[in-house]
Amino acid sequence: MGSNIRLSVLYAFVFLLTLASVARSFVVPNGILKHRSDKYGAEYKAKEFHAMKQRRHAPGRSDGSSDVIKPKVMIVAMFYLESYAFLNNYKPSLYGINITVPGLSPRFPQVYCTATGEVCHVTTTEAEINAAASMSALVYSRLFDLTETYFLIGGIAGINPNYGTTGTVTFARFAVQLMLQYEIDTRQLPVGGGFSSGFFTQGTKEFKNDLYPATIYGTEVFELNEALRKRAFLAARGAKLSDTEEAAKYRRLYPMAAARSPPGVTLCDTGTSDTWWSGSVLAESFGNLTTLLTNGTGEYCTTQQEDNASLAVLVRAAAAGLVDFARVIVLRTGSDFDRAPPGVDELYHLLQAPQGGFEGALANVYNAGVKVVDDIIDKWGEVYRVGVKPTNYIGDILNTLGSPYGYKPDIGVASQFVVPV
Ligand SMILES: *[C@@H]1O[C@H](CO)[C@@H](O)[C@H](O)[C@H]1NC(C)=O
Ligand SMILES: *[C@@H]1O[C@H](CO)[C@@H](O)[C@H](O)[C@H]1NC(C)=O
Ligand SMILES: *[C@@H]1O[C@H](CO)[C@@H](O)[C@H](O)[C@H]1NC(C)=O
Ligand SMILES: *[C@@H]1O[C@H](CO)[C@@H](O)[C@H](O)[C@H]1NC(C)=O
Repeated sequence: MGSNIRLSVLYAFVFLLTLASVARSFVVPNGILKHRSDKYGAEYKAKEFHAMKQRRHAPGRSDGSSDVIKPKVMIVAMFYLESYAFLNNYKPSLYGINITVPGLSPRFPQVYCTATGEVCHVTTTEAEINAAASMSALVYSRLFDLTETYFLIGGIAGINPNYGTTGTVTFARFAVQLMLQYEIDTRQLPVGGGFSSGFFTQGTKEFKNDLYPATIYGTEVFELNEALRKRAFLAARGAKLSDTEEAAKYRRLYPMAAARSPPGVTLCDTGTSDTWWSGSVLAESFGNLTTLLTNGTGEYCTTQQEDNASLAVLVRAAAAGLVDFARVIVLRTGSDFDRAPPGVDELYHLLQAPQGGFEGALANVYNAGVKVVDDIIDKWGEVYRVGVKPTNYIGDILNTLGSPYGYKPDIGVASQFVVPV
């Protein structure tokens, strides 16, 4: 009995302690939860104190009442060469404030910002898991107020020769997750079925081309702000794009006008897959899937390994009121063709052919991307602060954001919607 009372007192004491520590951890200045460095150990505490000191010189919230950085632009790169395209060239320097964010990739543990905190840069590192984990760490860190921030996801990609060439700069409306499918090895495909690839949609009971998936995970398609995309496209069109002689030579092997022309800026959609696939069979199959999942409007032109993952995180963060999904731009430049020219072996094309597009693509992430960043900074007061109002449905295939700006979903199936229409 006595020991029971002592135990109860002990429990009550522990409970109160926990309550106090929880309360201390979630001080809410200006409605933004404050990050508590003491949760992450002494080494982080020192680093974050350092970042905090630097941030005093950065403009925080508009009322000046917070030490949380509120960037106008967050540039998102996926690997070091894309990162250095910006980090080495952008002026003013992005090394003005370095902020260690718990949960970022060990290869890029810091977000870099200009000294004013207006422009920041994060590197997720590659493929879907790294992209999702790093973007989550960023948006939930509470080290930034991202509610008015424009996200410029800028990287290189495989390019569809029907829509562009190596070095071409693209802006996506749709991002499709291509590998979220069933697959069977082509050697085991049914004989005489007319199937060229071993991929077919998840949840279907039949092995048929172009059946709408019976199972939807929610990351199959994302749709971005079309008005913002057009504005970014117009800004980027003023960029002087890089090209190489080797790329110019290889592209002449294609019959398509878009592939043969020098690099330009174009509007077309992107596909995400962890697998770096290549070849005309899969290209056709994934082109079909893009059309299917975007209900006929998507034009698949680039392939990459992260965007749907980053966008999935941004949709969830938008649902939590932490970011504005109308402020996301996906810029991808063609570094290599997603299929061989006619008469060229697909494996040779993937592994050895002198495609020559890599260098120009990397340079053009910056050449075009900086025009978009400049437009956002230069026209902040007139245009971007209030925002570029969407003229289309934005969000994911589940209507997680509930028809923002009054546009009902033009993708997905109503029975699967999180927010009914
Ligand atoms: C930020 O990091 C960069 C790259 O590591 C470094 O060169 C720079 O000195 C750092 N800046 C500050 C303010 O610590
Ligand atoms: C991936 O995101 C792109 C937008 O960048 C979208 O067009 C595509 O449908 C998305 N795919 C998946 C499977 O989420
Ligand atoms: C893609 O769609 C076209 C037109 O519907 C069809 O003829 C073709 O077989 C499809 N290709 C694949 C690989 O599914
Ligand atoms: C998209 O296409 C699928 C399959 O045809 C259809 O079931 C669904 O209703 C369409 N979604 C919208 C929003 O039109």
